[in-house]
Amino acid sequence: MKKIKLCLMLAGTFLGSGLHMSVFAQVKLSATNIDEIVQTMTLEEKCHLVLGCGMHFNDEAKFPGTAGSTYAIARLGIPETYCADSQQGLRMDHHRDWDHRDYYPTDFVASMTLASTWDREAAYKVGQGIGNEVKEFGLDWILSPSMNLIRDALCGRNHEYYSEDPYLSGMIAAGYVNGVQSEGTAACPKHFIANNQETNRSNNISQMSQRALREIYLKAFEIMVKESNPWTIMTSYNKLNGPYAVQNHELLTTIVRDEWGWKGMYVSDWGGGDNAVAAMQAGNDMLQPGSDMQYQTILAAAKNGQLSMEVLDANVKRILEYVVKTHNFRGYAYTNTPDLKAHAQVVREVGADGIVLLKNGRSSSASEGGEKLLPLKGKRVALFGCTSYDWISGGSGFGGTTVGHYTVSLVEGMRSAGYEVCKPLIGIYKKHIAGEQKRLYPNGRPQFSLMPPARAEEKLFSNEELASAIDGSDVAIISLGRKSGEAADRSEADFYLKDGEKALIKQISEAYHAQGKQVVVLLDICSPIDVASWQDQVDALVCTWQGGQESGFAVADVLSGKVTPSGKLPMTFQIKYGDAYADKNFPSNVDDKTLGAMFMWGRNKDDAKKREPQKNIDFTNYEEDIYVGYRYFDSFDKPVAYPFGFGLSYTSFDYGNMRVSEKNGIFTIKVDVKNTGDYAGRNVVELFVAAPDSKKANKPAKELRNFAKTRLLQPGENETVTMTVSTADLASFNEKLSAWKTDAGLYTFMICSSASDVEAKATAKVKAYTHKVNNVLKPNVKLNLLHR
Ligand code: BGC
Repeated sequence: MKKIKLCLMLAGTFLGSGLHMSVFAQVKLSATNIDEIVQTMTLEEKCHLVLGCGMHFNDEAKFPGTAGSTYAIARLGIPETYCADSQQGLRMDHHRDWDHRDYYPTDFVASMTLASTWDREAAYKVGQGIGNEVKEFGLDWILSPSMNLIRDALCGRNHEYYSEDPYLSGMIAAGYVNGVQSEGTAACPKHFIANNQETNRSNNISQMSQRALREIYLKAFEIMVKESNPWTIMTSYNKLNGPYAVQNHELLTTIVRDEWGWKGMYVSDWGGGDNAVAAMQAGNDMLQPGSDMQYQTILAAAKNGQLSMEVLDANVKRILEYVVKTHNFRGYAYTNTPDLKAHAQVVREVGADGIVLLKNGRSSSASEGGEKLLPLKGKRVALFGCTSYDWISGGSGFGGTTVGHYTVSLVEGMRSAGYEVCKPLIGIYKKHIAGEQKRLYPNGRPQFSLMPPARAEEKLFSNEELASAIDGSDVAIISLGRKSGEAADRSEADFYLKDGEKALIKQISEAYHAQGKQVVVLLDICSPIDVASWQDQVDALVCTWQGGQESGFAVADVLSGKVTPSGKLPMTFQIKYGDAYADKNFPSNVDDKTLGAMFMWGRNKDDAKKREPQKNIDFTNYEEDIYVGYRYFDSFDKPVAYPFGFGLSYTSFDYGNMRVSEKNGIFTIKVDVKNTGDYAGRNVVELFVAAPDSKKANKPAKELRNFAKTRLLQPGENETVTMTVSTADLASFNEKLSAWKTDAGLYTFMICSSASDVEAKATAKVKAYTHKVNNVLKPNVKLNLLHR
């Protein structure tokens, strides 16, 4: 009895000193003792756990070239866990100095391509493939999907994002997250929130109405959270209506945890924010990649009571809840040999399904009429444009692809589909591109750069060269390319064709047409570009986007007709830059010097505090309000080059027998989709809904509320597509009431083939609905908001 008493006394003494567990540690972390572990951790251990362990760039790291890891505490059975970018595939060095093997993960498709499939299953398959590779290569946590809303065509990271529409973004992201987590790998949707520009990304304040925030920017994440429950979320670099997102309690805790009920772990973007303690207090559990200064700051704040133990313990607990789910915690014996062949097949299929056919036949208007050029009839093709020989498989930056093992070229893709590729052009372009590389990089290309590499100027042809190409081919294919990525936005000039590109299109089109032959243009792009000013010169236009390592095969599958295109645009193609209302408040013309000074993380934070805030750099006013993308063009009757949701097929579809029924506030919409053409194909069915008196109520003319994709339908085959929408889904955000509100009335449900093409419609009475939420995140400036 005496002995027990003595032990208890001793334990009490040690407990007070904070050293207790180094002496008495027995207990090891398990899924059921997290609270106990939190209580037994020392303060120092807690302060370490909330910080990352640096970036793993060097060769000594276990997984060189990856983004980081979490802190290990061996005595408590807390292992190090490992994370890596990105949404297009596992980013790590393929070579390790101390290892004879190669480590090549799959280069999956760009997010833009994935979103263009409008296929939740495709998103799941890509997520599953990436989740599986993370697991089999020994890591735990993939820092994706990137899912910021596409607010402007020039955002540098658009290729990483999904759509201008929150519903499409949220659903594709959810499919991806569910796929990743089905492998036991943690997903990390990012960048939360409103990181819609790269210029000065670490200091810029996104200033918007509560309504735009709720209906557009938060909505995408809300849908994703509710549909897929990600284990982690990454907060963004920028500020929102005042504070940094990473230090914003109303955002991270009041809305996401309290209102949405999300229980996962937040991690900062790498180096985000300027106050580690405020981040902890806001509910941002982990700061990456972590620094000694942050450690000292958090420790001091915890000691002097500025950071309460309750808050720190809650952060620690959520981190441990993540840790116990990881592969490394479970001791998974990884193989380093994921099924790369199977994943390559997914890349090819999804890559082809994400291709959008914009124009097919010279006299064709956007949709019908005129002779179709595609699928290609002739078997001899001439490939023009540097991009045809230097294909871009994805964007640049941490979220891009620079680690892919290979990219199937267009030449290889076309040849494997049975085409004869005009040989003299291959030689001409090889020489031209090599010359351009020398001109652009006299000292050789830098080994690693986050910036997209400079691209070769186009070459024009002599009469002889042209005559021989025309003679040796049935059709000309011109590829145009754009690459962008993290840390810098595209400029307005990048939206338009360069002089060389315009001259090439003119030269090739005139020469081929003079011989009665036709021209296809492929858009290997990262975000919309101008097509309106030149597309009349060519016969077919195919937006291939960026399809990862199997790009050449996917493009050839569509051009040859092996796959009938079924992709739809996830964002509007505007006619000119400036047409979208959001363009008025976007850093589209920042001079190179200013950009260079801000490159990567933006203005120096202390520097930024000293200067007069500059519009679109230090702050960006979202004056378009909720009128982003088609919500603007459609509601204000502005013409576009190609509307949101647009995409042609080789076959045609008929929509019949649309019916809407209602039960307990859930509307069920059914429509019979029939393949009425000559090719087997899949079809995306888009459900838009218009509220009564939308103009008077200052609501969009119509909004995407659901979508579905049919199976492969043979000619003549029919599928009944079913979609649901709840009364709550139809709500708008009412700032005065701080509530989601659906007005009672007659709503129009529309089956569409794009935001501008209504195929069938029906009306239904909807009852009023109100759901009150917290009155938080008000802008602290007066915004001049667009109104219908
Ligand atoms: C990017 C994140 C990325 C992180 C880690 C940051 O610069 O914004 O998307 O996950 O780096 O590499």
